[in-house]
Amino acid sequence: MIVAIDGPAGSGKSTIAALAAKRFGMRKLDTGAMYRSVALCALDEGIDLDDTDALAELAHRMEIAFPPSDGENVRITVNGKDVSNEIRTPRVDAAVSRVAAVPGVRSGMVAQQRRFAENHDVVAEGRDIGTVVFPHADVKVFLTADPAERARRRVLQRHGDHLPDAKALEAEIAETKAQIEARDAYDSNRAEAPLKAAEDAHLIDSSSQTIDEVLDAIAALVQSVQKDA
Ligand code: DC
Repeated sequence: MIVAIDGPAGSGKSTIAALAAKRFGMRKLDTGAMYRSVALCALDEGIDLDDTDALAELAHRMEIAFPPSDGENVRITVNGKDVSNEIRTPRVDAAVSRVAAVPGVRSGMVAQQRRFAENHDVVAEGRDIGTVVFPHADVKVFLTADPAERARRRVLQRHGDHLPDAKALEAEIAETKAQIEARDAYDSNRAEAPLKAAEDAHLIDSSSQTIDEVLDAIAALVQSVQKDA
């Protein structure tokens, strides 16, 4: 069973995919974390981000694994080293879209993603899961939310219980919204595997839905596939 969840940054894919995987007893495959790992290694190795051959070579020699994790955030290792926190830093945010646009990087990651699904039932989340990686996925969901709401969620998640004052919070949300929109535009307009909904994907707008409502909608799709099987 493969459940594909695609959508733009901050649409809630990660949270939804983690909870869905737990509910269905499946493994979560966070493909964004994989592209982030390539970007991190490229920065650490001092690879020029315009050097597409070097980036592709790097992506093909990286051994990425997902050790079991209890929390919502995925744990990810590269050649045995845990990089779960480092891949979420601003320097990786700033580099990852460029790295993910390189065809040779994508082919390396897609090969690893397909291998992962050979051994597990998966809830896979990303940008091209339903269109390129698993075009025959059993269930395809395209999750969206309006940019202001996505920025708000990102900022609240970043601060946890220690929120700055209202004015600083609004400024940070506005800045994050601009960054999210820029990244979406880049991801949607690239030549290779752009962010877009598969023709047979179910569109879910999470702007005004709770996490449970979105989960229930996905569960209904999974159940209808299981009934038909
Ligand atoms: O979901 P995220 O923010 O962790 O993704 C990080 C970047 O990786 C984002 O700019 C889009 C890219 N990405 C991609 O190109 N293809 C995927 N399947 C997943 C992520």
